[in-house]
Amino acid sequence: MSGFDKDWLTLREPADRDARSLSLLQSFNRYISSAPPPRTILDIGCGTGSTYRTLAPALPDATWKLLDYEATLLEEAKRQIGEKDGIEFLCRNLNQLDDAVLDGVSMVTASALFDLCSAQFSDRFAAQLVGRNIGLYAALNYDGQMQWTVRHPFDEQVVEAFNRHQHFDKGLGPALGPDATDHLSSLFEASGFSVSVATSPWQLRGDMAELQMAFLAGLKRPILEIGNIEEAAFSEWLDFRLSQIGSDDSVCIVGHTDLLAFPNL
Ligand SMILES: C[S@@+](CC[C@H](N)C(=O)[O-])C[C@H]1O[C@@H](n2cnc3c(N)ncnc32)[C@H](O)[C@@H]1O
Repeated sequence: MSGFDKDWLTLREPADRDARSLSLLQSFNRYISSAPPPRTILDIGCGTGSTYRTLAPALPDATWKLLDYEATLLEEAKRQIGEKDGIEFLCRNLNQLDDAVLDGVSMVTASALFDLCSAQFSDRFAAQLVGRNIGLYAALNYDGQMQWTVRHPFDEQVVEAFNRHQHFDKGLGPALGPDATDHLSSLFEASGFSVSVATSPWQLRGDMAELQMAFLAGLKRPILEIGNIEEAAFSEWLDFRLSQIGSDDSVCIVGHTDLLAFPNL
């Protein structure tokens, strides 16, 4: 169980779409469009299919494999996208991935995934891609930055505790958390791939109140697990943060980075 439910993924999808780096999306489209057919894209940790919905409209010739180990999320992806030619849904665990899943793949995509992965998993997976000349678009990796335009004296402590928790094991080994993009970038550069990195922050205003509330509520468990902030102090901070949602000058910024790496063919 990954603990990501479909309602959370549905809430974050519009913010993710707005946040993705446009220039990396354009480079991704150019790269795929120039790859020899069949242009097959494997989306790992696909959830309910957010990455497919964002990328597929610009790539009508591409075929897709959507992979996740959560059967309920994959079912939801199937329900939203529909079963059609050129798209396959694979219920697989990335920890036990059969190499054959990469057969015929031109590019792997992943969104909000690599910050959950360990260095060991990333090293192994990147080596598989490099060995097969397959590129990677890894978007929306949390980069450790969380800010609010209306400040609270406790913000820094909360962010620091959250960032420590980001390195806990989320099922794929001790997580890279905010180091994910730098780690991937070094791996692919060392292998001679062309690598681009761009920021893709969420900028959450009043029109994303529900996402902000869910995001703030989701901070409680990790912060209390880290244990250096008293529950009462956290609740006071949370009440303040919730009270600010929707006020004109309040924006919540959550930093991410996108990475695009492809072989120089
Ligand atoms: C933060 S969600 C992102 C989902 C989707 N990419 C999106 O952007 O909406 C991370 C996804 O990775 C999947 N995941 C986590 N660990 C996995 C594993 N070991 N094997 C396959 N999928 C995994 C989860 O089930 C979840 O769907």
